[in-house]
Amino acid sequence: MEWEWSYLFFSSIILLPVFILFFSRKKSTKCSYKLPPGPPGLPFFGNMFELGTEPYKRMSVLKQKYGPVLWLKLGTSTKIMVVQTAQAAEELFKNHDISFADRFIHDANQAHSYYQGSLSLAPYGSFWRFQRRICTVEMFVHKRISETVPVRRRCVDNMLKWIEKEANSAEKGSGIEVTRLVFLASFNMLGNLVMSKDLADPESEEASEFFNAMKGIMEWSGIANVSDIFPFLRKFDLQNLRKKMARDMGMAIEIMSMFLKEREEERKKGVEKGNDFLDVLLEFEGSGKDEPTKLSEHEIKIFVLEMFLAGSETTSSSVEWALTELLRHPQAMAKVKTEISKVVGLNNKFEESDIENLPYMQAVIKESLRLHPPLPFLIPRETIQDTKFMGYDVPKGTQVLINAWALGRDPECWDDPMSFKPERFLGSKIDVKGQHYGLIPFGAGRRMCVGLPLGYRMMQFALGSLLHQFDWELPDGVTPKSINMDESMGVTARKRDSLKVIPIKA
Ligand code: HEM
Repeated sequence: MEWEWSYLFFSSIILLPVFILFFSRKKSTKCSYKLPPGPPGLPFFGNMFELGTEPYKRMSVLKQKYGPVLWLKLGTSTKIMVVQTAQAAEELFKNHDISFADRFIHDANQAHSYYQGSLSLAPYGSFWRFQRRICTVEMFVHKRISETVPVRRRCVDNMLKWIEKEANSAEKGSGIEVTRLVFLASFNMLGNLVMSKDLADPESEEASEFFNAMKGIMEWSGIANVSDIFPFLRKFDLQNLRKKMARDMGMAIEIMSMFLKEREEERKKGVEKGNDFLDVLLEFEGSGKDEPTKLSEHEIKIFVLEMFLAGSETTSSSVEWALTELLRHPQAMAKVKTEISKVVGLNNKFEESDIENLPYMQAVIKESLRLHPPLPFLIPRETIQDTKFMGYDVPKGTQVLINAWALGRDPECWDDPMSFKPERFLGSKIDVKGQHYGLIPFGAGRRMCVGLPLGYRMMQFALGSLLHQFDWELPDGVTPKSINMDESMGVTARKRDSLKVIPIKA
């Protein structure tokens, strides 16, 4: 999350008089809670200036001093507990998952009541269960994922063609930004699964309005908002984030209304769309007890938007990190390419069905997700009730961050945790499905990623196809050791400098 210092500075100036007033009136209040330990922070501002641009790294450093559970305060009211070790995460997910199963709602997500229709932000309860059931029973089941192989095949074929075309027109020795094309392919895979539509085309100069609106929503969701730290500033919307979010979300919702209308007319005429997610949402019936019988039109639109928000950048940034690590480790690159060419064969296309026969490639992907979980704090949770956790009192309404970035580097869990060593996963039962708490890029417990079966498949298929189709070289002047590994926090933790690479047809 980019901490926009100019805004924070500006708001600090505005806040100074309030700060003085606050302290001149403050009575001594003794708290009987035993809170987890954490740095004292500044009066009124709390720890907000300590987080930096990569807060999960900063918090991981604080682990040395404060231990497995960290307590922070941001501004006047935001209480944060950070879980920093695999053992503490295990305790949370195994014994306290329900108490931590709500979500923290950011101010920008109030736009168009997004949070009210959203599965990922829904409070733990009957509406969340209803939406989650639609996903687990209808959408992300093995049968549907297998039936939709041809859709993903077509999107990946297009991606490979775009890459070739961009490589042919790129200046000699300079690379192309492959992640942008993986992002477009992921977006199209989701567009086809959800609505049977290609919604992103890199060759059309004016990318579709829907695509642009969704990019806007992703950008605004990734910026830290002073209104979340000082709720009394919400009405001023100092960074205009709620306004920008409302504009782009309004546009996306309007376009979704058109798509929905189109679909209803097609359904009346009996036009078959192969039962995509939109059909499922229109047809799904709840029991009516404790849950709706049908999703409302607004809820359907938000549900669809969420699939794009949750599934596109997470997939493309996972692929980017895996490719980056392979370029930094030429031996691992050679090993994975040899495995793929043996299993797939040089003249065949890489197919999803090849994945299960590629243990080294799977190990590369796990190792990359260990070091670069796309959501380093998962999605922030919130405590439903006062909870006793690891001897501490965690009050209701505390924001809970699970530092997956630190868990992946937990020395209690991993030998030589800072090194990229895919071999550690060969012959090991460790997977990413939320049972091994040192490796939870998709989260764990009740609120674990519901799209895991699809997202994991998409990223493995995209990466395998890239590795099979091309040899990858670094642009002139860049060596494996000099690749910039800085991260920037938006919706996901991306590479700050998007990876530039030269594809050479294998
Ligand atoms: C590589 C790809 C992906 C990664 C790394 C990823 C990661 C995550 C993580 C870390 C969470 C939060 C888990 C927690 O709080 O414990 C999450 C939640 C979620 N993800 Fe994914 N995700 C991916 C792909 C997808 C896809 C493709 C979809 C759907 C199309 C999706 C839909 C969701 C939803 C709806 C939630 C909220 C679940 C809830 O709150 O109950 N994700 N994801």
